[in-house]
Amino acid sequence: MSHYSFEVDRSDLGKTRTVDLPSPEALEMGEGEAILSVDHFALTANNITYGVAGDMIGYWQFFPAQGDWGRIPVWGIGTVLEGGNSGLNTGDRFYGYFPMSSYLVVKPGHVSERGFTDDAAHRQALPPVYNQYALMTADNGYDPAYDDQQMVYRPLFTTTFVLDDYLFDNDCFGASTVILSSASSKTSFGLAFLLHKNRKVKVTGLTSTANMDFVESLGIYDEVVSYGDINSLDAGEKVAFVDMAGDRGVLERLHHHFTDNILCSCGVGITHWESRDGQEPATLPGAKPTLFFAPTQIQKRNQDWGPEKFQQQLAHAWDGFLAVVDGWVTINKPAGPEAVKSTYETVLAGARPDQTYVVSL
Ligand SMILES: NC(=O)c1ccc[n+]([C@@H]2O[C@H](COP(=O)([O-])OP(=O)(O)OC[C@H]3O[C@@H](n4cnc5c(N)ncnc54)[C@H](OP(=O)(O)O)[C@@H]3O)[C@@H](O)[C@H]2O)c1
Repeated sequence: MSHYSFEVDRSDLGKTRTVDLPSPEALEMGEGEAILSVDHFALTANNITYGVAGDMIGYWQFFPAQGDWGRIPVWGIGTVLEGGNSGLNTGDRFYGYFPMSSYLVVKPGHVSERGFTDDAAHRQALPPVYNQYALMTADNGYDPAYDDQQMVYRPLFTTTFVLDDYLFDNDCFGASTVILSSASSKTSFGLAFLLHKNRKVKVTGLTSTANMDFVESLGIYDEVVSYGDINSLDAGEKVAFVDMAGDRGVLERLHHHFTDNILCSCGVGITHWESRDGQEPATLPGAKPTLFFAPTQIQKRNQDWGPEKFQQQLAHAWDGFLAVVDGWVTINKPAGPEAVKSTYETVLAGARPDQTYVVSL
């Protein structure tokens, strides 16, 4: 199968199929359209969340599929196969949001030496950040030696950086301890890394028993506790909770344990996508659980600091993270349709935290 698309059943993420696509040369391109091959992409729990929250947030609309099937978005690298009169040059490489499909047809707008925006009609109502494609040149700060890290960590680390800034822009809501769930996830350990490095705050990681050793080995959490041992935490501490797991049972136990000492409860992820039953969050004791929305804080910093300083600070933090992360996690590079399916299944079930994946189609 030379050109194909990997799809999932939108109401049952465990059910998948691989469908043939026509060769890109056989496509009739519309005015201003271009075709990019999808070369490589990263798969982490974040992509599973796109599927879980697909209807709520509109993730299925980026790359529509037939009937009940959906194409889960991934962060990857694509190469222009055919630029038409879009302004893109054949062979140029772009980093951005892709389907797990051999190629993507885009309608480039705002084409510049920085990149372009996909102006395809079906994407216009969706958050602009997902419609931007960055030209991967040295001038734009891309070093091919870090392509894999870019795909795996960059989308997660940007949120991590903004979360760290948000907590400290708000004086950590008066908390002296930050508790992170799914402490073994890349988004959480990125945040723990920044907190440990720059902030005078205790960092507690909550994780599953199987992932305790990994989380402890990172050396960036002051305390590591399994979900089953939440009651062993000091309920007298003032805490801010950053929730990557989205596990309603964990949220409930934590709020009832800390009651009024939980000063911030910030929902970021849903890695425990099968554990969504529990007390209605709004009725829990302590700070009301809210959903974190990174663009609001980014907008604030763009006003406070200006976009240039924001980008500089982010780049500085990213460089620090890149210097350590390869010592923590191995990037595996499977290829081909069978590998796409088996890697997806591994990540859906919960991959080992010390292993991650950059897949080639
Ligand atoms: N809102 C935003 O802007 C934003 C941005 C970035 C990331 N996020 C979210 O943050 C979360 C983490 O993403 P990531 O890519 O960093 O994750 P990741 O590195 O792939 O994390 C994997 C970890 O998640 C838990 N997990 C994964 N699959 C599971 C399963 N099937 N059952 C139970 N636990 C499972 C395990 O952690 P434990 O054993 O430690 O629980 C596992 O080690 C995602 O939900 C993602 O969408 C949100």
